[in-house]
Amino acid sequence: MKARGNYIKEVLIHEEQLQTRVKELGAQITEDYKDLEEDLLLIGILKGAVVFMADLIKEIEIPVMMDFMSVSSYGKGRTESSGVVRILKDLDEDIQDKNILIVEDIVDSGLTLSYLKDIMLRRGAKSVRIASLLNKPHRRKNEVKIDYCGFEVPNMFIVGYGIDYSEKYRNLTYIGALDESEY
Ligand code: IMP
Ligand code: MG
Repeated sequence: MKARGNYIKEVLIHEEQLQTRVKELGAQITEDYKDLEEDLLLIGILKGAVVFMADLIKEIEIPVMMDFMSVSSYGKGRTESSGVVRILKDLDEDIQDKNILIVEDIVDSGLTLSYLKDIMLRRGAKSVRIASLLNKPHRRKNEVKIDYCGFEVPNMFIVGYGIDYSEKYRNLTYIGALDESEY
């Protein structure tokens, strides 16, 4: 699905821009954590963060481990967070005393990430930071600090590079705004 179909209203971030920014984020993370005694644990939030996470880890030059968690705050076919976060798949490993970097695709209301950061701290993580490819600040309900942010995007419905609408469009190589006729 390389071609830009008419379901995409606008290409917001091209593939080359994504690659350049992910390299910068990886370099920044490497620099910030280079003196860490323990390994850094990246926790990818399924499924949206998978493509970003796969590219990002290759740009980090210190030892990292990875784990995944799946949560749901949207009902299928909806375009707004319900506010209720459900854990669909929990972490494989205990995170007590671990340094964690949560890797997320997009922060919108902030409900999902503030919930996740909160449970990781309650489970005894030593430190918790957040890397999000995209930030959509207009509809924020819970203030949440994004330590590593790729791009700010307008208040449009975003798809591509891992991000879906109703499980589709994750395989687009760019970030686009979905046409309203699609939802
Ligand atoms: P929040 O809890 O409202 O911050 O929503 C976060 C989650 O909603 C993200 O992890 C995404 O999976 C999803 N999401 C938010 N905005 C968009 C969008 O524009 N397109 C697709 N998914 C989105
Ligand atoms: Mg998500």
